[in-house]
Amino acid sequence: MNKFDVVVIGAGAAGLFCAAEAGKRGRSVAVLDHAKKIGRKILMSGGGRCNFTNMYASHENYLCSNPHFCKSALSRYTQWDFISLVAEYGIAYHEKTLGQLFCDESAADIVNLLVSECRKANVEITTRCEILSVSKTDEGFALSTSMGDYECASLVVATGGLSLPKLGATPFGYKLAEQFGLNVLPTRAGLVPFTLHEKDKTILAELSGVAIDTYATCNDTTFRENTLFTHRGLSGPAMLQISSYWQPGDILHINASPTFDIAESLAEAQLKNPDSLITTWLSKHFPKRVAATFCELNRWDNKPVKQLNSKEADAIAGFFEDWQIHPNGTEGYRTAEVTLGGVDTDELSSKTMMSKKVEQLFFIGEVVDVTGWLGGYNFQWAWSSGWAAAQYV
Ligand code: FDA
Repeated sequence: MNKFDVVVIGAGAAGLFCAAEAGKRGRSVAVLDHAKKIGRKILMSGGGRCNFTNMYASHENYLCSNPHFCKSALSRYTQWDFISLVAEYGIAYHEKTLGQLFCDESAADIVNLLVSECRKANVEITTRCEILSVSKTDEGFALSTSMGDYECASLVVATGGLSLPKLGATPFGYKLAEQFGLNVLPTRAGLVPFTLHEKDKTILAELSGVAIDTYATCNDTTFRENTLFTHRGLSGPAMLQISSYWQPGDILHINASPTFDIAESLAEAQLKNPDSLITTWLSKHFPKRVAATFCELNRWDNKPVKQLNSKEADAIAGFFEDWQIHPNGTEGYRTAEVTLGGVDTDELSSKTMMSKKVEQLFFIGEVVDVTGWLGGYNFQWAWSSGWAAAQYV
């Protein structure tokens, strides 16, 4: 029988950080993970450089059925606390854009930091460990696993969401929550590329690899970032961000001319270069391929701009200012960076992350119904929620 004060299930960002912080408080801690390797999502995050936090992280950057829930943890372990830890380890980092901090070298630096913090705190990490059952005892919890039986006073569930099943994602955390009578909100893929209906997909596939500056809007939320055309549909930061606000059936609004007034530009072209073709005029603002493909998409006759009547000119300007797309769906958990929904925050204390129904049962990280924007916010939630639970296990 393996006896610990704390067992953490899941050796990802939240689980490892929570384990180290609990160990520092003198608790004996075991981390169990079914995967061969720990921190696999960290290793592949940020294109291998891990966008480990965001300088501007606040509760406003998160989706949650209770928008106030994440305030407490985020304010008690902040981005600046994690940045100090990264600096303590001498890990070089830089701001890429919009407050997003990335390692200069490798995401492995962050995993090594977590392992080192766990070692200092005498945390025992076991991989390839299947959790077969979990039950409540008078003293805490009993776990039956492929690596033997465990007993602990506090149990922390840090098994993440459903995205990237090939990296070891499972619904374990949601099922465990339900086993103990906690409500779990429906889950769906977030920060995920859109797929398109066949006609749009075929035409726009011509632009595969091209990115344009856009405002993307859905359900009263707007992001100003790049939209990337792919052979499957639409991706890039603007699309990933807005995908978390999109529900099947919703229309996506794209403003493809955020830095210039397209109607004014067309009027000027009609005055100064009346014989230039629509595609030639559009090529002033967009790559040539974009101009030609948008003409095809809208069935605009590629004629000299002087031949456009005011209705046609308005239609062209209207398209660039508010291109309305009906996505076919998203690429789903196969490529999503996060999972929306999860363990209902009404079931948890925002101060401790402990279940209100079951003493000493904690849920942290992505398994909870708290989902950050793209840009380091999800790791910050893993650090902050992990730290909060670590103070009370
Ligand atoms: P995480 O998924 O990290 O860890 C869960 C752990 O639980 C895993 O080790 C898993 O093996 C284990 N587990 C699952 N089921 C189990 C079971 N049944 N038994 C035992 N163990 C089990 N965020 C960000 O802020 N900046 C970024 O740059 C990126 N980049 C990024 C890229 C890609 C490709 C993805 C998929 C995601 C990101 N993210 C991100 C999101 C970020 O990776 C994610 O939000 C955090 O890893 C969540 O941390 P958790 O510890 O909650 O789960």
